Amino acid sequence: MEYSAPRGTQDITPDESGLWQHVESVIRQTMALCGYSEIRTPIFEHTEVFERGVGATTDIVEKEMYTFRDRGDRMITLRPEGTAPAVRAYVEHRMASRPQPTKLYYIGPMFRYERPQAGRYRQFHQFGMEVIGVAGPAADVEVIATPLDIFRALGITDVTVNLNSIGCPVCRPGYRNLLKEVYAPVLPQLCPSCQSRYERNPLRLLDCKSQECRGYMPDPPPIFEYLCPECAQHFSEVRRLLDKLGVEYVLNPRLVRGLDYYNRTTFEYTVGGIGSQDAIGGGGRYDGLVEELGGQPTPAVGVACGMERCVLAMKAGADAKRFAGGVDVFFVSLGERAAERVFELAFQVRSQGVSADFDMMGRGLKAQMRYADKVNAKFVAIIGDNEIDRGTVALKDMSTGEQREVPMAGLASMLREGR
Ligand code: HAM
Repeated sequence: MEYSAPRGTQDITPDESGLWQHVESVIRQTMALCGYSEIRTPIFEHTEVFERGVGATTDIVEKEMYTFRDRGDRMITLRPEGTAPAVRAYVEHRMASRPQPTKLYYIGPMFRYERPQAGRYRQFHQFGMEVIGVAGPAADVEVIATPLDIFRALGITDVTVNLNSIGCPVCRPGYRNLLKEVYAPVLPQLCPSCQSRYERNPLRLLDCKSQECRGYMPDPPPIFEYLCPECAQHFSEVRRLLDKLGVEYVLNPRLVRGLDYYNRTTFEYTVGGIGSQDAIGGGGRYDGLVEELGGQPTPAVGVACGMERCVLAMKAGADAKRFAGGVDVFFVSLGERAAERVFELAFQVRSQGVSADFDMMGRGLKAQMRYADKVNAKFVAIIGDNEIDRGTVALKDMSTGEQREVPMAGLASMLREGR
């Protein structure tokens, strides 16, 4: 019996893990550059954190969560996203009493029971950043602009920033009623999910994906024309600061996002060349969430990006092999005495900070050379009886093919210099 990974999950094999490590290191470097600290929350939380946090009428909570009762009869959910857990941790660890704002980032797996397709998985990875404690627009702009630097560093081009503001509890009810008026005449034609959204969360009518439904819906009045003066002022400041940084964006009044915690700024990045699942990230302001999860009223804003989609977008233009690691030196041995000597030498140079590998399969010279080439060794050190007697190795530079005899002593420092 042979098993495969569960539907919607995938292995990151040695062929790809170098590329993933590169992505992670670019993210960590950028986060450090911008003053964010990493938060690592559990993979699972009490179900209520997401029911309250993400919102009961969202697709995530209604049909996509991996929820189960544990052996102690607690309702547990594998995290579908990272914002509600980060806020839960912020409240639990009283982070508000530290110097503010709190700037957190995370990298890790998330779980959603969605229909798998290219770019959409049931276990996927996100990197995200959350700024908790800032009401002003500089924080919105920082979380919009910073992932763009990461995309650029990864060679992901052709990214569009879609921007909207969905108002606040003061101005949104009026807009909701307006939407209901506009869509009432076509309600019987709309899909079942829109019919239920009409009653429960009319804003979500705007991001129905069904083309048929869209055909029936007149264009909505743009939400940002119905904002209260405070929300309008915030939105225009966000736009002004984006312009100042030279960040281009497209206003998209349909961008309401699929999570309930947002207010004011919402945004999403789309990228060309990776198929229909082209949103590589999104986020927005969520000024009510800290209080919803038991903290003091605290403004906040954040973003999360899909790492599989980033990798797909990179592969459209990058060679995964480029990121495959390789040892500094591979020791090739000719004969039994040499096999024992390379074993010692490999451990010796490793202890001096040089990465090294050696043949453990008892293969012949040619096969060892082929293997060294395949695993990307930078140098090959060939050792037979003659070399042992002279205290030397035949060192071959695999990039130039050049070979010379060098003393065993001092090999490590020479290889370190030759990197
Ligand atoms: P989200 O839009 O649900 O937002 O997810 C963010 C990104 O995660 C998406 O744009 C997409 O790239 C990726 N993603 C989502 N679902 C899948 C999937 N099934 N397979 C592959 N990739 C996926 C959030 O999660 C919010 N927590 C973002 C946020 C942070 N808002 C404020 N702070």
